[in-house]
Amino acid sequence: MSKPLRFLCVVLLLLTGMNAFAQRSANGKKMKPYREPHRPQLHFSPKANWMNDPNGMVFFEDEYHLFYQYYPDSNVWGPMHWGHAVSKDLMHWQHLPIALYPDSLGYIFSGSAVVDWKNSSGFGKNGKPPLVAMFTYHNMAHEKAGRKDFQYQGIAYSNDNGRSWTKYSGNPVIPNKDKIQDFRDPKVIWDEASRQWVMVFAAFDHVKIWTSPDLKNWIHRSDFGKESGAHGGIWECPDLLPMKTEDGTEKWVLLVSINPGAPNGGSGTQYFVGDFDGVSFRPDPAFAADTPKGRGVWLDYGRDNYAGVTWSDLPAAQNRRVFMGWMSNWDYAQVVPTTVWRSAMTLPRTLSLHKTTKGYRVFSNPVEETRLLSKTFKRLKPQTIVKSIALPQAKGLMQLDLTFSDISIDADFGIALSNEKGERYVIGFDAAKGHYYSDRSKAGAHDFSEKFAQKIHIAPRLSQEGVLKMQLFIDAAAVEMFADGGSTVMTELFFPSSPFTKVELFLNKGVLKLSDGVVWPLESIWKK
Ligand code: FRU
Repeated sequence: MSKPLRFLCVVLLLLTGMNAFAQRSANGKKMKPYREPHRPQLHFSPKANWMNDPNGMVFFEDEYHLFYQYYPDSNVWGPMHWGHAVSKDLMHWQHLPIALYPDSLGYIFSGSAVVDWKNSSGFGKNGKPPLVAMFTYHNMAHEKAGRKDFQYQGIAYSNDNGRSWTKYSGNPVIPNKDKIQDFRDPKVIWDEASRQWVMVFAAFDHVKIWTSPDLKNWIHRSDFGKESGAHGGIWECPDLLPMKTEDGTEKWVLLVSINPGAPNGGSGTQYFVGDFDGVSFRPDPAFAADTPKGRGVWLDYGRDNYAGVTWSDLPAAQNRRVFMGWMSNWDYAQVVPTTVWRSAMTLPRTLSLHKTTKGYRVFSNPVEETRLLSKTFKRLKPQTIVKSIALPQAKGLMQLDLTFSDISIDADFGIALSNEKGERYVIGFDAAKGHYYSDRSKAGAHDFSEKFAQKIHIAPRLSQEGVLKMQLFIDAAAVEMFADGGSTVMTELFFPSSPFTKVELFLNKGVLKLSDGVVWPLESIWKK
């Protein structure tokens, strides 16, 4: 090939490559990145192409690291890498180069990262503790050859704040001796009481617990879950963490994602509350006592919060557990109507543990840093609601904090988002049935998957208070509802054909009082 021709080919290749990052609007103009239709403005999403689970979330030297399952060559799932971004405030993110690439041992599936403060692994350099990542290798060649042992655990380390990584020469650190087909998603913590590293990962229908003195040599200690919780699908992405209730009681929480088998279908995250003695996890006898066997207790009843785990190594002074999930569902994640990128993360959430009349429960609330997204607010007049009211100053991105009282037993009310095309998304509460609900069947595109909007999604109300609180975070293509102090949570996607411009407090039936209401317009986390 002649030199000019080669040059032309390179330019053409570059242009087509770049095109993958740009979407054109109806009039043919190139859209600015992060301004495309449906692009989340309050939530993390990759610049381009496919993302699923959050991985390796760790805090180190003033940075929150977020790694994620990433396929840089397409907007559907493919050979997995770990994408990487960092943030100073959990809200605004800086994209960094891909952290982990597939290698001869396989694709890089989900996992976690820790700061090895005492350099137990010996990977540290010049007195600086290394970051150590634990992940699952998925060996496609072995899978295709019909072998069952194609998933195993590997580690990698970084001496430069996660900017570059070296895979450990002794990988895999946990081979798959028992040939368990689903054998993945290691989450590691340092357990101060037993003074060892503790790793949980998922093995088809249960969680395996392994321990290590140095992150390299691991011993299998126990299994949990074959007989517990929901089993409508495969167990994935566990997380085991100690938490304290308001009265200081320490309990251990085990998060387990499951796909399918979530209460509203497809992917979801269940959890268990119990005790851990450095060897095994045992659920508290009172936990889920009134939940029918096999039903499970769920972190989020919406359709779109999956594979979430918590951050490692938050400074003790923060005194909090911060969780983030993948804001989608395997039922339709690969066909949702976005092209430049596919998928976003949930807002980071603070998890808290509470003793309730139903036993121990984990509540989720948006982290307080979400306050950084608003400069002003508008307080609504307390009023008795007898028919729907349009909310003032409410369009686009916003947070709504609504408190209702004097709720009639037949009341059916909530928030509706709509546009001039007549599309309408509804999230509300049905007092007669005692549950919250989300209806996206008329909220825009849904025929990309028959599973997306085939039914109304419901979430039982846990709180028995007379006063009901709904907090909503509304983004271009998603809503997150934290009801009653985070005891009932729903995360739901929608895809209106033009932005929702109207927000209304609707009342279908009954009466109630809006005793307090605050509307916070929110600003995009991405630069204009
Ligand atoms: C969960 C999951 C994990 C796996 C990863 C692969 O969504 O299936 O179990 O490690 O995604 O991308």
